[in-house]
Amino acid sequence: MAPFKHPRTHRPHLRTVSITGVGSYVPERILTNAELERMVETSDEWITTRTGIRERRIAAAGETTSDMAVAAARHAITRAGITPEQIDLIIVATITPDMPFPSTACLVQQKLGATRAAAFDIEAACSGFVYALDIASHFVASHTYETVLVIGAEKMSSVIDWTDRNTCVLFGDGAGAAVLQNRPNAHGLLTTCLGSDGTKAGLLELPGGGSACPPTADSVANRMHYLRMDGKQTFKNAVNAMVSAAHDALDRCGLKVDQIRCIIPHQANQRIITAVSEQLGAAEGQVFVNVDRFGNTSAASVAIALDEAATAGRIQRGDLVLMVVFGAGLTWGAAIIEW
Ligand code: UT7
Repeated sequence: MAPFKHPRTHRPHLRTVSITGVGSYVPERILTNAELERMVETSDEWITTRTGIRERRIAAAGETTSDMAVAAARHAITRAGITPEQIDLIIVATITPDMPFPSTACLVQQKLGATRAAAFDIEAACSGFVYALDIASHFVASHTYETVLVIGAEKMSSVIDWTDRNTCVLFGDGAGAAVLQNRPNAHGLLTTCLGSDGTKAGLLELPGGGSACPPTADSVANRMHYLRMDGKQTFKNAVNAMVSAAHDALDRCGLKVDQIRCIIPHQANQRIITAVSEQLGAAEGQVFVNVDRFGNTSAASVAIALDEAATAGRIQRGDLVLMVVFGAGLTWGAAIIEW
């Protein structure tokens, strides 16, 4: 394999950052396309041909985003061979926090017994996990912290309008987690590229419940507390932004796409994944897909996929992994990891 550039090693005061453990969790309850056919005017044929989604997971009543985050985190902690007390910082990426405050990360800190950890949430919608990886990596690279736990967790079922066929067939619940540490003699996270475009904020939003539109009887009656999306425009922007972010990340490391063992794109729609793969010139089998089983789990999407790819042996130590994401904001990002 041709040598690659590690942007961090050009700054000797920074150290490398590896992912030393991953984990994921999805709820037991499976919601199939056949069940959705009985809820809204849709069909299994429409959903599978337009999205590739066959089923998605739905959290149990009373099961929260922090519960799912903790379940994923426990697997990642075990695989990293650490204890919760060793964690210095917890970052949770979510758009479906248990409540506006305190942060879901603080609730996770308590449930894990991560008594030494600082904790905060970040919100970058479906791009949240890569945003959180980037933030976390700086704490480790700069010697500020030894061990950072990054989680993407969503209970999308709590913000879905179950009468809107345009959106209710697309999303699912779940969580994925990663432990970040310096591992001597390993390159780890080679680069992260992030971007945003707030001029297109209206394409995908949940308008109610914040300071712009506090909850009232009217806001509930007008369905302001549910996710809304202009699917067609979101689709176009997703493909363009993901291809461009992936190219930026590859260029920064002096890599070509055929040097990447596994590409993990945001799992929103099989057609988006196919378009991105084709435009990147990715080979068949290089791209990891689980959208058929989980739908779009927003910030959890690439975190769950990373865990599944690693657990299935699709990624081995030393392999290069490209994660590429897109979401509301608009936001996007890419990360390249030497496993
Ligand atoms: O996580 C990041 C953000 N999310 C995404 O990246 C998702 C981006 N967008 C998409 O994945 C696609 O745009 C959708 C899957 C949402 C829609 O696919 P599309 O091919 O863009 O369909 P469309 O919006 O052009 O809709 C075509 C038709 C419409 O009917 P009319 O107006 O042509 O009569 C819709 O009303 O399909 C109709 N439709 C449905 N029909 C059956 C929309 N949803 C459904 C449905 N079942 N569930």
